[in-house]
Amino acid sequence: MTSVRHLLEVDDLTAEELATVLELSADPSPSPALQGKGMALLFEKPSARTRHSMEMAVVQLGGHPVSIAGGEVGIDQRESAEDIARTLACFHAAIGARVFDHSLVERMAAVSPVPVVNMLSDQAHPLQALGDLLTVAQEFGQISGRRIAFVGDANNVSRSLAIGAGMAGAEFVLSGPAGYQFDSADIDRISAAGGKAEIVDDPVRAVSDAHVVYTDVWVSMGEEDQAPEKMEAFASYTVDEALMGHAAPDAIFLHCLPARPGLESTDGVLYGPQSRIWQQAENRMHAARGLLAWLLGAS
Ligand code: CP
Ligand code: NVA
Repeated sequence: MTSVRHLLEVDDLTAEELATVLELSADPSPSPALQGKGMALLFEKPSARTRHSMEMAVVQLGGHPVSIAGGEVGIDQRESAEDIARTLACFHAAIGARVFDHSLVERMAAVSPVPVVNMLSDQAHPLQALGDLLTVAQEFGQISGRRIAFVGDANNVSRSLAIGAGMAGAEFVLSGPAGYQFDSADIDRISAAGGKAEIVDDPVRAVSDAHVVYTDVWVSMGEEDQAPEKMEAFASYTVDEALMGHAAPDAIFLHCLPARPGLESTDGVLYGPQSRIWQQAENRMHAARGLLAWLLGAS
């Protein structure tokens, strides 16, 4: 029997597997890998894009998604994370989980007889990175050699994207204030994935000649108590029209969403001609379908 594969971070795939997943994502009607089967989608945090893209991806693969709020199952309160994973695996061919603490998805994956997919943790958001890389490939014909500038926090979204970009041969630069940049463990992991984590304080330098300018909220879910200091630290990191003017002439703007217009990006950039945010959001579904088709085939 093949051992079960999980996706807790993009580098759970090899670079070759990532390329295969992205190819599969471009196939609108792959073989129905989930025909007659279920997928449990467990959410400790709110979601619009991830829940809907995953549910529709499961449907498109012939399966039946069952979304569950964290409170319904009471992770580590009513029952341990491990027993929840073991239980859900009795009924479902795969489990997705959006959690506060990354160690929860690790604990679930450690015991689950079916694939576990991280649908966002405090550490990583691999499904977002897959959709983002698909968007870059659609826009530029290739990912390799593109320069992606992330102006914002060293968070789940930027970390997964930096790893995925490195695996796909893109340049990645992070620009944010001191104290909110990648740490040495992040840099080691990005390097191990084949990338190089360039970090610059100055956003103008970071976006110079970039093909992709990306941002995310300054205060992620679960960090609300840090809002006052983060709002102050990031005040000069808004992606506005002037900053976009330093990027390559054909540069696109991406944001994982949800956005706080007027904070991390202006309305003019978020909804402007260089923005690809709705294509990016739709690609979450195509990437989820490609990933699940691959994961179910590989496990
Ligand atoms: N980008 C993203 O994951 O959106 P949701 O939080 O709405 O799922
Ligand atoms: N960094 C954000 C991403 C939301 C999709 C958060 O974790 O809240």
